[in-house]
Amino acid sequence: MSVPLSIIVAVADNGVIGRDNQLIWRLRSDLQRFKSLTLGRPMVMGRKTYQSIGKPLPGRETIVVTRDPAFRPEGVLTAANLDAAIALAQERALALGADSVPVVGGGDVYRQAMPATDLIRLTRVHCAPEGDTWFPDPDPVLFAETGRESHPAGPHDEFSFTFIDYSRRPRDEGPRWS
Ligand SMILES: NC(=O)c1ccc[n+]([C@@H]2O[C@H](COP(=O)([O-])OP(=O)(O)OC[C@H]3O[C@@H](n4cnc5c(N)ncnc54)[C@H](OP(=O)(O)O)[C@@H]3O)[C@@H](O)[C@H]2O)c1
Repeated sequence: MSVPLSIIVAVADNGVIGRDNQLIWRLRSDLQRFKSLTLGRPMVMGRKTYQSIGKPLPGRETIVVTRDPAFRPEGVLTAANLDAAIALAQERALALGADSVPVVGGGDVYRQAMPATDLIRLTRVHCAPEGDTWFPDPDPVLFAETGRESHPAGPHDEFSFTFIDYSRRPRDEGPRWS
């Protein structure tokens, strides 16, 4: 049995997700959504994203993918490649009774995880900043939009934003002969 893989990402209207290994916007509403989608679950992230956060986040497990065997921060699990990180996250999700394995970035890890991803929980942030890391629009052939909620900027949000959920369409199993 495998637990669904769920990419969680905040993307500007122009596809930018980061600059100088940092988040670009202040958006408390999105941080709250991120928290609700990750609490109690084993998150998978790249080493650069981990370093931009700087510590394990409370209430969830962190699995950091890195090729550096010496990178062993306290309070996180590490894996030497993405397949190993996902396998470990699946094990931990089953042990925790978690409903999903969140993949939380950054660009490099999203790109590699996309073929295995079942769900994408995307926050479209309505701005067009300069950046150095991007996330592509989900391919409509592979992913169906299953939910959309638009929000004006709240008191602690720099921009308005839209939460959009995507689910992978059933995988094409090819022609069947009978
Ligand atoms: N807007 C959002 O939702 C969001 C979310 C997360 C991050 N971000 C942004 O994204 C940016 C960081 O993304 P990034 O693409 O530069 O880096 P990243 O994906 O966070 O991390 C890349 C690192 O992960 C490790 N890695 C990746 N693939 C691997 C593999 N197959 N096997 C082993 N290790 C692997 C490598 O670490 P080693 O070099 O240690 O080997 C690699 O250098 C930042 O600006 C951050 O703020 C945005």
